[in-house]
Amino acid sequence: MSLPSKLLAGPVAGMILRQAQDERNWFLNGEEKRANLSPLTLSLSKGERHTTSGIRREKMTETTPVLGGIHHVAYRCRDAKETVEFYREVMGMDFMLAIAEDKVPSTGAPDPYMHVFLDCGGGNVLAFFELPNAPEMGRDAATPAWVQHIAFKVESEEGLLAAKHRAEARGLSVVGPVHHGVFKSIYFFDPNGHRLELAWQFGTASQMAQLKAVAEDMLEEWSRTKKAPRHAAWLHEKIAAET
Ligand SMILES: [Fe+2]
Repeated sequence: MSLPSKLLAGPVAGMILRQAQDERNWFLNGEEKRANLSPLTLSLSKGERHTTSGIRREKMTETTPVLGGIHHVAYRCRDAKETVEFYREVMGMDFMLAIAEDKVPSTGAPDPYMHVFLDCGGGNVLAFFELPNAPEMGRDAATPAWVQHIAFKVESEEGLLAAKHRAEARGLSVVGPVHHGVFKSIYFFDPNGHRLELAWQFGTASQMAQLKAVAEDMLEEWSRTKKAPRHAAWLHEKIAAET
C-alpha cells in the first residue's frame, strides 16, 4: 500500500523518515537485533509498506488520552491495619479492597505485601502498600514537609470545620483553615507521615476562569525568573480583605 501523496511531505513525513532512518541505522549495526525491530523498521528493510506502518504509528501518538479521573493513587504505609483504621475513622472512608501476596507476582521472589484500597468519594480511590520486609519508610528529606500532600474535597465550610474538629478530637495537630482565595484548607498528617489536606472550594466560575486565563503567562514568567508572577495579585488582595 502506498502513502497518500499529501502525507509524503511536511513535518509528519519528515518525522517518520527520521525515525525510520534511526531505526534502520541501528538495525544495520547488528543483524542479531532484527527480531526486536518494530514493524516500522521491518517494513523499511523490505523497501515497502514502511509508510503504512509509519502512518499507523503516527496516528497512535497523535491521539490525546481521554482520562476519566484518577483510578487510584498508591503510597506506602507503615502498617496497613493502622492506616485503614485511620482513614476510616478520621476521614470517613470506606475500606474497599485488599490484595495480598507472599511473593512478588512478576519474579516469584518472597516479599510479602498488603495492598489496601479506600474509597475517598467522587469515584476516587486511595491505596497503600505495606511492605514488612523492606527498609523502614522515610520521606524525601530534600523537600519541605508541606509540599507533597494529598488533598480531598469537602462540600462546605461546615464540613471543613467538622473535619478539623474530628481530627483534633483524635489527637491530631491541624493547621488551618487557610484561605487560598478560591478555597480554604486544613492540613494534618496521617500515621505514615503523609500530609493530608481537606479543601472547600468556593471560587466562582468567573474567578476560576480569570485564573486559568493567566496560568500560561504565569508559568512562562516563572520559568524565566523563578520569582512569583503578579498576574493574579487580585487573589492575594481578596485573601487579605477576607482574612
Ligand atoms: Fe494543596
